[in-house]
Amino acid sequence: MHLITGFLGSGKTTLLNILGSLDTPTQGTVEVLKTKIHEIKQKEASRLRSEHIGFIFQTYNLLPVYNVYENVEFPLLLLKMDANKREKMVKDAIEWVGLTDKIKSRPNQLSGGQCQRVAIARAMVKKPDLVLADEPTANLDTENSHNILDTMLKLNRELKTSFIFSTHDPKVIGYLRRIIRLIDGEVQSDDLASGI
Ligand SMILES: Nc1ncnc2c1ncn2[C@@H]1O[C@H](COP(=O)(O)OP(=O)(O)O)[C@@H](O)[C@H]1O
Ligand SMILES: [Mg+2]
Repeated sequence: MHLITGFLGSGKTTLLNILGSLDTPTQGTVEVLKTKIHEIKQKEASRLRSEHIGFIFQTYNLLPVYNVYENVEFPLLLLKMDANKREKMVKDAIEWVGLTDKIKSRPNQLSGGQCQRVAIARAMVKKPDLVLADEPTANLDTENSHNILDTMLKLNRELKTSFIFSTHDPKVIGYLRRIIRLIDGEVQSDDLASGI
């Protein structure tokens, strides 16, 4: 698990968006999953995203009229696959985050921590190589933050998914292998941590 940290406005979101090919750099080169993403076309970038990269946002971005199952299923509808396989993948992802008993609930029937776990399941459902998470614990209390981090760590170990996330939340430090600190859009330090 890799962390990007720094004060508000230091460029964390910008960097994550560039890594996820949602934004393009004005200069320099960016290589993600062995692809030089500053060189590829829109169409290739969108394929890289839909097949290999999952996103988790600070405000969850769940679809309010859809239940847990439908929210997690959503990224798979963009990929062609048969319905049975899709159903198994959705159910597995919901089980990974411990929400099988809430499968029919809508976001407004869930707590913030549960919504963020749905967002993790949605990011993980296609078993991406990389998950980018922008301040995933910012809207959560301490207990839910640890819960989310434990869930991400478990998936990092079991499914070998790399997580890169941004935060300025000191609670997360113990979970990390690498910490990149930004100041005013520049890398100030890049350290291996004692965590995992
Ligand atoms: N390296 C950079 N070069 C130019 N502008 C940058 C750079 N990093 C960040 N910015 C600008 O700074 C502003 C805040 O960055 P943002 O990524 O939202 O910060 P954070 O997520 O850390 O609060 C944005 O308008 C962004 O375009
Ligand atoms: Mg930000």
